[in-house]
Amino acid sequence: MTETLILTEIEDGVALVRLNRPKAMHALNTALIVALMDALDVLDKDDDVGAIVLTGDVRAFAAGADIKEMQDASAVEMLQKDHIAPFDRIRKIGKPVIAAVSGWCLGGGNELAMSCDIIVASESAKFGQPEINLGVMPGAGGTQRLTRAVGKAVAMEMVLNNRTLSADEALHYGLVNRVVPVERYLEEARALAKEIATRAPLAIRAGKKAVNRALETHLADGITEERQSFYSLFSTDDQNEGMKAFAEKRKAKWKGK
Ligand code: HXC
Repeated sequence: MTETLILTEIEDGVALVRLNRPKAMHALNTALIVALMDALDVLDKDDDVGAIVLTGDVRAFAAGADIKEMQDASAVEMLQKDHIAPFDRIRKIGKPVIAAVSGWCLGGGNELAMSCDIIVASESAKFGQPEINLGVMPGAGGTQRLTRAVGKAVAMEMVLNNRTLSADEALHYGLVNRVVPVERYLEEARALAKEIATRAPLAIRAGKKAVNRALETHLADGITEERQSFYSLFSTDDQNEGMKAFAEKRKAKWKGK
């Protein structure tokens, strides 16, 4: 019987997406990564969904790429198969994705969490890039996004010496947005997603894209793109409604148009 690698449910405008390989600590094998990206693509196009929460379980968000799947691969096979490529698809998701992280968040798991837009961590979350223990290095953003998030000093220790960050350390270094008790981390992430899901959808997409561009482009180009996006929102009904509602001292009704 085929495992259902990804579980999805939708409630109050929020899609909850669960990684589902609990016996393997949600290790990210190729099938799981592809199933996850397929699910995110579908949800991105679903008008009933305003925001997405991605999670594992209390014990692990994800313990990294599936070591057993890749242990016998040659460099040529890795290049040809390029099983990290599907990871890039998450960058194309226009809706906000919130990672709800508890327990182990390692290697490709940490890279997946960092590919999300916001990270809500439980007090028991542990973040690391332990690839050095396997004789390799991070391959899906664990040297790039991590360094931009926590800075060179901490990133070097994590990548070169398997330094693991506690939830509080991750908060201190700016890797996560908030830390909450383990009983509440999922509800907290869902509540945050629900709040975001009530906001103007086109402006949310544009804002998310622009913030992510800040990590990818030069300041002058980023500022130019930001301004173009800002102006283009003036062609939307939502801009008209949002500013009218402000002037009329009432709550705006967003259409996503
Ligand atoms: C495959 C994994 C796995 C992984 C855990 N398991 N992590 N299988 N790949 N990354 C499996 C174990 O083999 C075991 O299966 C079961 O999950 C439970 O794990 P245990 O080790 O028994 O649990 P515990 O002692 O609690 O230790 C938890 C752990 C440890 C600290 C998370 O499992 C661990 O160190 N895992 C590897 C973490 C890692 O190195 N990640 C980086 C991977 S490389 P059985 O069948 O024995 O019960 C990577 C590169 C990214 O991510 C490249 C881009 C995608």
